[in-house]
Amino acid sequence: MDGARPIVKKDPVARSILTRHDRIEKNVTLLLVLSLVTVTIGGLVEIAPLFYLDNTIEKVEGMRPYSPLELAGRNIYVREGCYVCHSQMIRPFRDEVERYGHYSLAAESMYDHSFQWGSKRTGPDLARVGGRYSNEWHVQHLAEPRSVVPESIMPGYGFLGTTPLVVEDPEGHLKANRAVGVPYSDAMIGAAQADLLTQASATADNTGLLERYPKAVTGDFDGNADAVTEMDALIAYLQMLGTLVDFSTFEPETTGR
Ligand code: HEC
Repeated sequence: MDGARPIVKKDPVARSILTRHDRIEKNVTLLLVLSLVTVTIGGLVEIAPLFYLDNTIEKVEGMRPYSPLELAGRNIYVREGCYVCHSQMIRPFRDEVERYGHYSLAAESMYDHSFQWGSKRTGPDLARVGGRYSNEWHVQHLAEPRSVVPESIMPGYGFLGTTPLVVEDPEGHLKANRAVGVPYSDAMIGAAQADLLTQASATADNTGLLERYPKAVTGDFDGNADAVTEMDALIAYLQMLGTLVDFSTFEPETTGR
């Protein structure tokens, strides 16, 4: 301490700054006002740009809004609380990436209302479960998990296979999502009811559906061609998860970060 004083005395610039700051520190009101001004400037610099940016998410090739059947399946996923045991968020750590695949990108959940990231993994992460198993495996696993994974503690959801899928207003559902920013086109909304049924059918002409929703997996998911069930919708959703972005050609944007 003793050594500091002479330096201050010898250097007039340092002394004037120190004495001025000294004044602020000794005046509580002034300190409070100036702190507030500083925090306000800092806050504005951080927050103001967000009002001018349309999107803070890096755009990624391949992401598209969910098809009406996938959206219906997603609702069942939420209703049944699958997120209580399953996350949909692969973190960028080696153990996760080796087990589940490429780490999740923000863009991959940008059409999720609400997000299904989850915070608990009683079961495995499902962000890239699409295509990992056959439809038959999912039907069997959802109905009786222990028949395919003997040590599983997952509950059975066999009733989904006998519950007819009821989507009261597929057009309205898409419109509601559009209202919160999902880019559903008028054509998508107009064809919502037809697309819903086409995707769950093994025989219907799905050209239009695939134009609107590239990579949509179609077919009779639950193995029961007579009815469209909640099982059909849920499996359509699961089979899509993590498959939209092609990671063989994906390159993360590294500039400016
Ligand atoms: C009580 C917790 C729990 C709930 C709720 C739950 N699961 Fe699971 N799930 C598990 C566990 C544990 C496993 C791992 C064992 C197995 O494969 O059955 C698992 C495995 C899975 C798998 C296989 C994942 C993989 O990569 O092998 C899928 C798919 C799945 N669950 C889907 C669902 C869906 C869809 C729902 C909601 C309808 C759901 N789970 C609800 C605990 C749960």
